[in-house]
Amino acid sequence: MDELLKWRSEFPILETSTYMISNSLGAMPRSVYDRMKSYADAWATRGVRAWEEGWWEMAVSVGDKVAAIIGAGPGEVSLHQNVTLTQAIISSCFEFSSRRNKIVLVDLEFPSIIYFHMEQRRQGARVEILKSEDGLHAPLEKILAAIDDTTLLVPISLVLFRSATIVDAKAIIERAHQVGAHVILDCFQAAGTVPFNVRELETDFAVGGVLKWLCGGPGVAYLYVRPDLRTKLSPKIAGWLAHKRPFNFEAAALDPREDSYRFLNGTPHIPALYACQPGLEMIQRVGVGNIRKKSVRQTTRIIGGALKQGWRVNSPRDSSERGGTVSIECPHAQEVKNELVARNILVDYRPGAGIRMSPHFYNRDDEIDFSLAQIDEILATRAWERHLQPA
Ligand SMILES: Cc1ncc(COP(=O)(O)O)c(C=O)c1O
Repeated sequence: MDELLKWRSEFPILETSTYMISNSLGAMPRSVYDRMKSYADAWATRGVRAWEEGWWEMAVSVGDKVAAIIGAGPGEVSLHQNVTLTQAIISSCFEFSSRRNKIVLVDLEFPSIIYFHMEQRRQGARVEILKSEDGLHAPLEKILAAIDDTTLLVPISLVLFRSATIVDAKAIIERAHQVGAHVILDCFQAAGTVPFNVRELETDFAVGGVLKWLCGGPGVAYLYVRPDLRTKLSPKIAGWLAHKRPFNFEAAALDPREDSYRFLNGTPHIPALYACQPGLEMIQRVGVGNIRKKSVRQTTRIIGGALKQGWRVNSPRDSSERGGTVSIECPHAQEVKNELVARNILVDYRPGAGIRMSPHFYNRDDEIDFSLAQIDEILATRAWERHLQPA
């Protein structure tokens, strides 16, 4: 008996589709409708008073719901609009004019993060992009060797988006600390499906978004800063939420707060901060440990089914190295994915990875078997051909 299936009825989209894409956008919890109504009610009936009745604090108070999932303490997480922006806020705390100006990245990082850091070369940053040897794993030895006493930042994913490989973050963080570098751990593909604890990892920064495994919808990303670092850093991306006396409207230099508001800037994204809460609350109640147990079982089932058909699997076979997604490179994977979506089986495709299948705690085993059988049928009947792009 799969205990976690009792949560299925909380997600409307599961009634009308085979939803295998939580690595991209987690299903919306039904109670988001009510939460968005509370937002509209507050605006409609409380108007401007809503700011002092909670809105002003939401970018940190709602952060506590993320903190509880990633192992941070209350008040230690601030919320922003997306992960790229959290990287920018962190980067803006540093100077690139001294000898310590190197940024070490792996080519399997999410491209938006690579684009952002590459642009910092205009400020003097030196960016070293390390190549994965197999397209699946982060090249640990190369990373450890590249982190030296000129390294400033190491932005690295805890789970790689393309292959779902779990990275040995602890080893990278230890190495970075030996030489005085800082690690920005991107937990987007881990939080809500792979248990971890930012305090145990001793990471300098942890960032991620809530729209995938946390079922929190678009528009909210978290930023955890190790508490002992907080007041040593001052983002150049600053604004009135970071100021000690925002309502004095002083035309002067920023007097930065000492808590997590220090990393905020302008008016927060209030609607998204309402929408994200049901998902965060539910993940906390379901328990990431329980989600992980089920995820290992279901991803193992997908791999077994794919290998039986002779399809290439671009995710680690060993479950201890694997997050919640399995990338399957069957023949004509891109066109097969388009046909799956046309049949209401929601998955995605990434070049170099294949079809990404990501069951979450609300998926049934028979949905996995059905999706794999449909891939087989699409290949056998050549139904994928109708998605061929003209040359
Ligand atoms: C690991 C990882 N980092 C970052 C992002 C996206 O960053 P942003 O929130 O800036 O769009 C994604 C996917 O959307 C991702 O998988």
